[in-house]
Amino acid sequence: MAKIAIMGFGTVGGGVAKVLEMNQAQIAAAVGEEVSLKYILDVRDLSGTPYASQGIHDFSIIENDPEVEVVVECIGGAKVALDFTRRALQAGKHVVTSNKELVATHGKELLSIAKVRGVNYLFEASVGGGIPVLRPLFQELAANQIEEIVGILNGTTNYILNRMVKGGISFADALKEAQANGYAEKDPTADVEGIDACRKICILSDLAWGREVSPDLVSAEGISSIHLHDVSIAAAAGYRIKLLGRAFRLDDGRQCAYVAPHLVPESCPLAMVDDVFNAIMVRGNAVGDVMFYGRGAGALPTASAVLSDVMDAVRSRDKRRSLGWSQSAQLLDAAEVEARWYLRGSFSPADAAAVLDGPESIGEGAVITAPMNFARAKEAAEKLGAVAMLRVL
Ligand code: HSE
Repeated sequence: MAKIAIMGFGTVGGGVAKVLEMNQAQIAAAVGEEVSLKYILDVRDLSGTPYASQGIHDFSIIENDPEVEVVVECIGGAKVALDFTRRALQAGKHVVTSNKELVATHGKELLSIAKVRGVNYLFEASVGGGIPVLRPLFQELAANQIEEIVGILNGTTNYILNRMVKGGISFADALKEAQANGYAEKDPTADVEGIDACRKICILSDLAWGREVSPDLVSAEGISSIHLHDVSIAAAAGYRIKLLGRAFRLDDGRQCAYVAPHLVPESCPLAMVDDVFNAIMVRGNAVGDVMFYGRGAGALPTASAVLSDVMDAVRSRDKRRSLGWSQSAQLLDAAEVEARWYLRGSFSPADAAAVLDGPESIGEGAVITAPMNFARAKEAAEKLGAVAMLRVL
């Protein structure tokens, strides 16, 4: 029997306990032994709940119990979670997490502790919620040179955009619904301002190219300045506005990663990804494009990914996964990347044609430019008095 502990009993931690109970026989059959929940570490008192006998408040109980093989970290953040993860790994326990902030900011260090101690630090649930994407990236696609990754990486913002457009409800009400469904972060600013998606594109880049990409160095723009008028103009012209994380590597070895709202043509599969769903397209030099799609947030989908890592840790007790990334990547500033831009203001097609080469008019006072970098697009936007400026995929 394998004994595990959960640290942090919020949406994800609670989901892990629930799925473990719901699918216990299935999990035991697949792993070859029972997986049993010995402790739940939380600041709250769990007495009076079905988990009363497992509830504890002192991390050292887990740290010092040789029976606990796998620790599931669902605390979130990079403070207490960092300290407990370091100590759990140093105590020779496998650690499984859904904590993208911790993996994106301290993954390199934690993976090297895991390597020294001969244990696993696994984080499938940190990107794409329930979608299996990290393991395929380092396992099934390992024979490829990864060229590009682009995706909808935040369920909350996708849900909000969708509810605003299709449900006609306000941003604030859509956010409240996302919070009630357990999709949003404790501080939803991280979702809305693209910070959460930024952490995820960093983790994908770290794994795809083996070099650390720090979230501090990656430009992240969210959806708070998206106007419904732009959503309608885009829709009438055959585009959907989506918050995308994108990363790619140039032939000279430099890498680029950024998060920004984009106009996505309806012909692209990412345009049709609605509600809390995430989708990640990966381009490998042998396989071509592969797309991963599923629920990107929520208790049970995320627990599904966490438990698959727990099962992997139990199964591969004696042969740890060789995961890790090295020194910082050399980064190309996203502002240098040429893109087509959507500009909207009160300018006429003639005004736009006087400032831009061959603008495509897609609505009243709205054009799509030829490819150009951010500085040139910004200059044109200023000359035209544009009030909206978005990338086009
Ligand atoms: N707040 C995140 C999201 C949760 O909405 O995608 C999953 O990482």
